[in-house]
Amino acid sequence: MRKIILYIAASTDGYIARPDGNIDWLHDKKYTIPDEDFGYTAFLQTIDTTLMGNSTYKQVLGFDMPFPYPDFQNYVFSRSEQQDTEHVTFVKDKLVDFIEQLKEQPGKDIWLIGGGQLNSVLLNAGLLDEIILTYIPIVLGRGIPLFSEEANEHKLKLIPTENKLYRNGFLQVRYSC
Ligand SMILES: NC(=O)c1ccc[n+]([C@@H]2O[C@H](COP(=O)([O-])OP(=O)(O)OC[C@H]3O[C@@H](n4cnc5c(N)ncnc54)[C@H](OP(=O)(O)O)[C@@H]3O)[C@@H](O)[C@H]2O)c1
Repeated sequence: MRKIILYIAASTDGYIARPDGNIDWLHDKKYTIPDEDFGYTAFLQTIDTTLMGNSTYKQVLGFDMPFPYPDFQNYVFSRSEQQDTEHVTFVKDKLVDFIEQLKEQPGKDIWLIGGGQLNSVLLNAGLLDEIILTYIPIVLGRGIPLFSEEANEHKLKLIPTENKLYRNGFLQVRYSC
């Protein structure tokens, strides 16, 4: 069965965005390492589908660039009625059933983009297979957490061969759920 992988970056204190959703701190030029994308391109080759909460989708739309995942099947979850777009299919009802069926379909792995609310729904439903988490060496103090407070306690297993410390201080760890 295809896996669902949360590939995401968080501050050292566990936030994925500032309280207003801003992720400017992720793109600070001082973190740039020439010819290094922290495994992003290689990861994209393993997936053909993305999952996003509507808040994350709205942030993505706010980037000053074309929709970044035009070649994937993109699903956005919202409790209200939304109009599908050229690149995105909205899912309103029975999120867990929908994702269970998606996992059973043939295909590459599925990228759970986030954010924290959607991450908790999938974790609680036992639908999340792996987490590739890049810790950014910054304390934000406040913000949107990696898992919203609806998340239940859940032990993770470190995959020891898949961890990397980059010279800019990024620490990338891979867990199986
Ligand atoms: N650091 C990173 O790498 C990274 C990665 C991804 C996201 N982010 C950040 O994370 C932030 C958003 O995270 P978030 O936790 O606030 O929100 P989120 O998980 O992205 O989206 C929450 C929304 O998803 C919908 N939703 C949640 N549960 C649902 C359910 N059971 N059924 C149907 N729809 C459901 C609702 O949309 P409606 O309100 O429309 O009903 C809800 O408001 C953004 O600022 C984004 O930039 C950061």
